[in-house]
Amino acid sequence: MEFVAKGLQGYFRIMLININGVITGKEDAKVSVFDRGFLFGDSIYEVTLTYDYVLFKLEEHFDRLWESAESLALHISHSRKELTYEVNKTLKQLNEKRAYVRIIITRGEGMIGLDPNLASKNNVIIICKSLPENPNWWYETGVEMIIANILRNPKESMDPSIKSGNYLNNVLAYAEAKKQGAFDAIMLNRDGFITEGTTNNIWMIKNKEIITPPLGAGLLPGITRQTLIELAKLKNLPVSEKNFTRDELYSADESFLTSSTKELVPIVKINGKSIGSAVPGPLTRKLHQIYKDHVQECVKQGKNKLFFTIFPSDSD
Ligand SMILES: Cc1ncc(COP(=O)(O)O)c(C=O)c1O
Repeated sequence: MEFVAKGLQGYFRIMLININGVITGKEDAKVSVFDRGFLFGDSIYEVTLTYDYVLFKLEEHFDRLWESAESLALHISHSRKELTYEVNKTLKQLNEKRAYVRIIITRGEGMIGLDPNLASKNNVIIICKSLPENPNWWYETGVEMIIANILRNPKESMDPSIKSGNYLNNVLAYAEAKKQGAFDAIMLNRDGFITEGTTNNIWMIKNKEIITPPLGAGLLPGITRQTLIELAKLKNLPVSEKNFTRDELYSADESFLTSSTKELVPIVKINGKSIGSAVPGPLTRKLHQIYKDHVQECVKQGKNKLFFTIFPSDSD
């Protein structure tokens, strides 16, 4: 496979976009209007980040990307090694310590029509940009959420466990949150159980038990969610995947959300109701510290193999 990176001198380096191996700045990053990602949301994606130049949990994100692809019978034209190479190539050019990395695979371009076979070849798009530190107040004060009126897509429909480019369900829920001045929205399923936030997983703590909804509730298997479950178990903290309702969430001692870029953000109010004493709880803080220690450990290990993971030689 021939990959060409050219003419980058003039580009603003804070954001670079790799389209099928060619890296450009944002002004020149264009895909066809006949791309099925644009026409139908017929695409999949992943978001991860770098800490101190080290890509975080790329393998886990790839696992989920390939699972999403399989669920949609969407063939990924790149191997894992080729995709790793392209991500690293873009990050190397970007040269930012803390970078946002979005990998998008669309089913490709073709004549307008629902038939997936109309597309001949994937488009592979990697967006890398500098990622500022998250605002301190998220962690110090905590955030307010709403419960959205719109329900999460049922699993039997557009399954939320697939990280597809079709995010309208979440866009609508997020718009509800913004209308009410909230940080984000939590979506329920048809049975009245909590599923997840629009781009994050939801947790509650009750009598020291750490609880997050099971995958069966219909939600994205968050990588941060899975990491935290494993870390809590390692530390012998009681953690479980259990359904809970909005009323149970209101009466929780603590609550928080998780995502790769946000880590753990305390939730202090939901629909105007205080959670616990409406301040970030002690167990939430402890879990966040455990998570941050884990990140540091991963970064340390990543640095040991830096030349392979971040700066591969061009012939790799
Ligand atoms: C719907 C949804 N749920 C949960 C998450 C959190 O997933 P992760 O921890 O892998 O970032 C995301 C991340 O984008 C998401 O879009």
